[in-house]
Amino acid sequence: MYFKLGSTRMKRLEELRVKIFADGAEKEGMLELARLPYVKGFTTNPTLMRKAGVANYAMFAQEIVAAIPDRPLSFEVLADEFEEMERQARLISGWGSNVYVKIPITNTRGESSCPLIARLTAAGLKLNVTALLTLEQVHAACEALRGTSGAFVSVFAGRIADTGVDPVPVMAQAVSIVNRLPCVELLWASSRELLNIFQAEVIGCHIITVTHDILRKLTLVGKDLTAYSLETVQQFYHDACAAGYAL
Ligand code: G3P
Repeated sequence: MYFKLGSTRMKRLEELRVKIFADGAEKEGMLELARLPYVKGFTTNPTLMRKAGVANYAMFAQEIVAAIPDRPLSFEVLADEFEEMERQARLISGWGSNVYVKIPITNTRGESSCPLIARLTAAGLKLNVTALLTLEQVHAACEALRGTSGAFVSVFAGRIADTGVDPVPVMAQAVSIVNRLPCVELLWASSRELLNIFQAEVIGCHIITVTHDILRKLTLVGKDLTAYSLETVQQFYHDACAAGYAL
């Protein structure tokens, strides 16, 4: 079955070029998703880990690495000083050959992480440069990643959209910047809805990371909208009955 997005005929899910990653830190959910062949990698962040109740970061991460040794896994440094970020990056990188170390594009004072990114790249670490929201940041990250053997540049499209700006043209420009480097992939981060997967596909974005909740909606892709309308009416009717509402 094929899907439509604007005037473009969409491919089947398994034929999409954009790689779908799962964004989350619930161990059981990650292991469940690892069984799905179309989930090609995993991303985490400190906010997601806190939400999932992760108590021991290193233990959590190493359990995930042991359980999912065959797909890219992203784990973020926690420090705010570049020297300590570097130490943590080297530690995290040592957890597995499929581990990408997430380095925020700046520290909390807004100081650029690019010198650190360049140093870690020269040392051969695989990085996921994260929390980018502007094209200037994409340019700077790519410059620092020159010579990498594998890196992701994570642009937070959903947070761009949260400000009322359409992220699609921004992401399309980011694709062309990132494509100038052979081993760097653009990652559409902070997705907000399932449609973002198809938007990322159309612009040639390499990767999109999607929350577990959105991934569970993949069964809806291609669903007949008349049937979906009927289910919606039935849902409201059943909930009204179940609540015992009367007028
Ligand atoms: O993990 C990175 C990103 O996908 C999180 O996005 O905006 O929902 O916090 P956000």
